[in-house]
Amino acid sequence: MDFKLKSVTKQIERGTISWSSPSNIALVKYWGKKDNQIPENPSISFTLDHCKSITTLSFSKKETLDDFSFDVFLEGELKESFKPKIATFFKRIEVYMPFLKDYHFKIETSNTFPHSSGIASSASGMSALALCLVSIEMELSDVTLSAVERSYYNKKASFLARLGSGSACRSIEGDLIVWGTHKDIEGSSDLFGVKYPYEVHQNFKNYQDTILLVDKGEKQVSSTVGHNLMHDHPYAERRFKQAHENLSTLIGIFKTGDVDAFIKIVESEALTLHAMMMTSMPYFILMKPNTLEIINKIWAYRNKTNSKVCFTLDAGANVHVLYPENEKDIVLEFIKTELVAYCQNGHYICDQIGFGAQQLVIEDQ
Ligand code: DP6
Repeated sequence: MDFKLKSVTKQIERGTISWSSPSNIALVKYWGKKDNQIPENPSISFTLDHCKSITTLSFSKKETLDDFSFDVFLEGELKESFKPKIATFFKRIEVYMPFLKDYHFKIETSNTFPHSSGIASSASGMSALALCLVSIEMELSDVTLSAVERSYYNKKASFLARLGSGSACRSIEGDLIVWGTHKDIEGSSDLFGVKYPYEVHQNFKNYQDTILLVDKGEKQVSSTVGHNLMHDHPYAERRFKQAHENLSTLIGIFKTGDVDAFIKIVESEALTLHAMMMTSMPYFILMKPNTLEIINKIWAYRNKTNSKVCFTLDAGANVHVLYPENEKDIVLEFIKTELVAYCQNGHYICDQIGFGAQQLVIEDQ
């Protein structure tokens, strides 16, 4: 697919666009990438609903066209530390968005979850920014949206978001998104996320995700460094193959609604992700003692009650507790009585599967 800008038919001096875009939680993990943000293996994620970034992009024509010009604000405060990542993003996408140097941009972003919660905001933040830029392109090209065009621009937004942060390409739509070419999943691509195209059993609708905030500090090892450590990793090739196998197995599981088999894959994926970190060179551990306490409590509770609750992990110490909607009340009770004690300051976030990003109407335009 060709994502170069087709034609600019309109001159626009200035404007403002706003999007809200969610975070997502991977079931089969993306860990390891090639050049140009191409993943080493396919991944699949649930899009979240409440954990979102809200980004407003104001743009105004500038005189000199020789470099990018932008300011970034998080919760109203100027964030110099965000600039390098966004500058890299702009450089990577300039060929698809040739108008980037024509404007000065003011990027104002805020998250519905606390910034220092250890929840990665790169997926929601980069996807929201990519969507704002695609909206500008649509204005410049004077596009009126038909269904075909909506699908093209969603793909383009996902394609661009990937170039900002890999997992961000899975946040444009919902509720189950695949990124990375997989032989059994039609339409899957290394270049952008696509909606999971096959049957999904009722058991997996409205799945719940309660995020237990075990450690809200900055990560000692960034995802980018972690991905790079998969080069020359002794178990890398086998791991990439395993991700393909797990995704194949999930296709049957989603169809039949076999939650026990789902749990095995999801928990194994989480522990494998951390095993890859522990066996890289240099090696590192992102789990904390309370991460393990929570995992053990979940296993004990499952043995005792036959509940279908399970866990997954990101590249950090926080635990995502996943469970079917029909266990919502009882598992939340379990979380409150047995797990909250292991959270930093007792903090946790209740979320569930969501359906993707939304453009926000700006009132005073
Ligand atoms: C562990 O998308 O943050 O969350 O492409 O370098 O920005 P970059 O990495 P990023 O990696 C996320 C990895 C993960 C697993 C996943 O979401 O699939």
